[in-house]
Amino acid sequence: MSSTMPSGAKRLGLRSDFVWGVSTSAYQIEGAAREDGRGPSIWDTRCRTQGGVWNGDTGDVACDHYHRWPEDVALMKDIGVAAYRFSVSWPRVLPKGRGRVNDAGLDFYDRLVDGVLEAGIEPWMCLYHWDLPQALHDLGGWANRDSAGWFADYAVLMARRFGDRVKRFATFNEFSVFTLFGYAIDWAAPGITDRATHLKAIHHVNLAHGAGVDVLRDHVPGVSIGAVHNRQAVHPESDSEADRAAAALLDEHWNRAFCDPQILGHYPPLIARDMEPYIQGGDLARICRPQDWFGLNHYGPIFAKADPDTTWGFAWGEDKAATPHPLLGWAIYPDAFRDELLLIARRYKLPIVVTENGCGGNDQPTPEGRIEDAHRIAYLDLYTDKMKEAAAAGADIRGYFVWSLLDNFEWGSGYGNRFGLIHVDYETQKRTAKASAGWYRELIGANSSVMNR
Ligand code: FCB
Repeated sequence: MSSTMPSGAKRLGLRSDFVWGVSTSAYQIEGAAREDGRGPSIWDTRCRTQGGVWNGDTGDVACDHYHRWPEDVALMKDIGVAAYRFSVSWPRVLPKGRGRVNDAGLDFYDRLVDGVLEAGIEPWMCLYHWDLPQALHDLGGWANRDSAGWFADYAVLMARRFGDRVKRFATFNEFSVFTLFGYAIDWAAPGITDRATHLKAIHHVNLAHGAGVDVLRDHVPGVSIGAVHNRQAVHPESDSEADRAAAALLDEHWNRAFCDPQILGHYPPLIARDMEPYIQGGDLARICRPQDWFGLNHYGPIFAKADPDTTWGFAWGEDKAATPHPLLGWAIYPDAFRDELLLIARRYKLPIVVTENGCGGNDQPTPEGRIEDAHRIAYLDLYTDKMKEAAAAGADIRGYFVWSLLDNFEWGSGYGNRFGLIHVDYETQKRTAKASAGWYRELIGANSSVMNR
């Protein structure tokens, strides 16, 4: 590593109980897709759909975390994280999404939770990271209003089984990504492009979130509940009126369709109008339930343009003023991260946990077997500096989780984009800590109280 590389040993001046962690999700790492009674999810289906995923990649084996989790927990311990955010595969514990419980699936999460706790790491369980049981999709999935009840029943099962050991729960990961990409844009499962279906999915997912919060609160003593929102500023690609209108609508869909009703009790204006036919009496009160923290996933801003051929008339545009960062080769906007943290703090008035931040790449080992991911260190260094600025300016930030512990199945990009602090050789399943894992270990060491380590 060159001497000009940023050191992790910098002081950020955060709270003494600040939580440092790593994030993963079930379908992206577990593999064992047909083992021990797991049912199929909509992502298994998408991976088998022509053109659904780059290179025809699937999550069938992924990082084989289902079998190799003890090694992965040891790697986390070695980095020194205090917390691990992972998700439960709904079809692994309820193969058809409801009804018969798969004990072998529950046993897996028992072993994992116990192993994580034994390593001195706090488990943060996310109930939904995009892998809806296929059997529920066949009943209409999130476009069926009953889905809120299906989710609540699944949440009860999780709360009863794990609530004695797991106290931190997130209901959903990135509501707007899986609904917009899955029901309007066809970048994600289930690959539908239809306005009404999309609007219903938004509303029912919001209802499911509210029901999930209530169930967790009722069943888990001392629980701390949040939801994980992707948020990034949306800029028009050009100054044209059409691009500005496209950006305004995408901004509501991306940044506000879920946070606003869940925390403020109403839909943002443009969506509220479209949503009217689907809202029943009492729904907004069911959606807006007290939460303990706001989970923020942030990577970088979005550029939007008008495109009349799309479901909503907006599309992803180009970043025309982009200046590539010398180490990364593409433009990054760390200031946008600081601004987003401050905006959320002001608007939603909840403690914030950064539940995902990180940087992809095509990291490959040197002939000596090291992985010198200088670009990732540069990215994380700049972004954690901006988190420090936001905290100093008054944002109540309680934790930061790097996406991700391991290289993994990156949805539509398959295995073509690596986000891990740990490199995974998918042929051999060999794990190798990248330089960034060492950098993160230093950062955690310099910014944890002894109590917290
Ligand atoms: C987020 C997802 C996560 C991963 C990262 C790179 O949108 O929550 O699963 O794909 O992006």
